[in-house]
Amino acid sequence: MDQSNAARKPEPDLASTKRDPEEESVHRALEGFYRTGKPPWDTGVTPPELVALVEGRGALPPGRALELGCGTGTNAVYLARHGWEVTAVDLIGRAVDQAGKKAAAAGAAVRFLHGDATRLDELDVPGPFDLFFDLSCYCGIPLHRRDAYAAGLTHRADPGARLLMFGYGPEPLGNPIPKITSWAAGVTADELRARFPGWELLDVTPGTNPVPTFWFTLRRNA
Ligand SMILES: C[S@@+](CC[C@H](N)C(=O)[O-])C[C@H]1O[C@@H](n2cnc3c(N)ncnc32)[C@H](O)[C@@H]1O
Repeated sequence: MDQSNAARKPEPDLASTKRDPEEESVHRALEGFYRTGKPPWDTGVTPPELVALVEGRGALPPGRALELGCGTGTNAVYLARHGWEVTAVDLIGRAVDQAGKKAAAAGAAVRFLHGDATRLDELDVPGPFDLFFDLSCYCGIPLHRRDAYAAGLTHRADPGARLLMFGYGPEPLGNPIPKITSWAAGVTADELRARFPGWELLDVTPGTNPVPTFWFTLRRNA
């Protein structure tokens, strides 16, 4: 499952027997996006909210970062190029392959892992980490897997660690794929407060998208 910028041997996907029907639907939908070329979210641009955290006034000192749902690796590469020791995980093998190539082309050392952010214990990611970054991964995770995601991060967080997360809010126009109830639920501040005990929700800033989106910043209690 590990790919440190090197050509990756084809790996068996996470055993589909572990996935329930909703997880299977999410997996199929995501694979479809990557199979048909460039997914709509893959802008190749690092968002200003992450740039501010890394380079802005009061920037975090570089440390160890874990990106959840890294896609094709734009932001993992950005963090590595700014002195962070980066591990990045994605559920879809094609995304991880592209991420590895992007990092190699940029000369950035990133540890990419093909795996499930809700099952970090199955990957070699002991941590601890100072920063977790999630750009639109958590908000697509089936609701019943989200406690496992939160526990995985909490277990690997240094005291004071940050979690910077971008997510879609509850979908006001209904659900594009009704089988995936999480995609209509999105993510809210109240949900994060409930699912991340031991963390403080420091900031919620609305995104600029035409539908409700949010940037959340959480800090692990000391
Ligand atoms: C909307 S895309 C965003 C990708 C990337 N963060 C970006 O902005 O380009 C969500 C990403 O999360 C990944 N993902 C979804 N569920 C995941 C899970 N349980 N574990 C790891 N990655 C997951 C998807 O494969 C996809 O690459």
